[in-house]
Amino acid sequence: MNDGRLLDDAALERSSVVANNAMNRERRLIGSNGYGRDLGIDVAELARERLAAGAQTFRWLDLCCGSGRALLECAAVVDDARLRITGVDLVDAFASDPPSGVEFVTASVATWTPADRFDLITCVHGLHYLGDKLKILAAIASWLTDDGLFVANLDLASIRSADELPLDRRLRTALRSNGFDYDGRRRRITRKGSAAIALPFEYAGADDQAGPNYTGQPAVNSYYR
Ligand SMILES: C[S@@+](CC[C@H](N)C(=O)[O-])C[C@H]1O[C@@H](n2cnc3c(N)ncnc32)[C@H](O)[C@@H]1O
Repeated sequence: MNDGRLLDDAALERSSVVANNAMNRERRLIGSNGYGRDLGIDVAELARERLAAGAQTFRWLDLCCGSGRALLECAAVVDDARLRITGVDLVDAFASDPPSGVEFVTASVATWTPADRFDLITCVHGLHYLGDKLKILAAIASWLTDDGLFVANLDLASIRSADELPLDRRLRTALRSNGFDYDGRRRRITRKGSAAIALPFEYAGADDQAGPNYTGQPAVNSYYR
């Protein structure tokens, strides 16, 4: 990869691939193209179970949340003031007047930092558009509660070597030894519990001309050495 083609975060966030109006920002909580299917978990059921077990709050952070439709649906079906939902997206396409307990933040996940820890952190088809994906994974690990759960869609093929050294095996080993599980068939990454971690790769930049990924939409490759 010629480093001259690689974009930093500011350039990436202006890219038509990231600001693409055609991407699906309207996924629902359940259903054939919903969060439940993409994440392999029933978010509302998880919240209900924890709250029924006596949790004082259940905090859900959804990164790259799009319009936030799934978040609003979750708030409505759980219908419990102890459920707190935060959605973050670069683009302010959120539903107006979210109910109490639901907060939408217009920001880049690359620079945003939360004030709270979360029982659940998700990112549904959002990591595909981020530059330094590994830095964000490390940050997410530190934002979880001790028994918090992280689930996101991720194509490890989008994390590439900026030099001639193969990255795939080293990357999988580093993720596993830092507490992440990767399901290659479903292209899903998960972890349980908080940790301060540093993944041993140096970010070189992003390629927004990578073309469509497995979702069929143009996505961003991230380069490391
Ligand atoms: C394919 S959409 C998915 C939206 C939502 N999760 C859904 O499934 O309906 C990807 C989202 O990632 C957002 N995004 C891309 N880069 C981002 C960044 N750096 N920070 C926050 N959001 C970002 C886009 O604006 C878009 O809303």
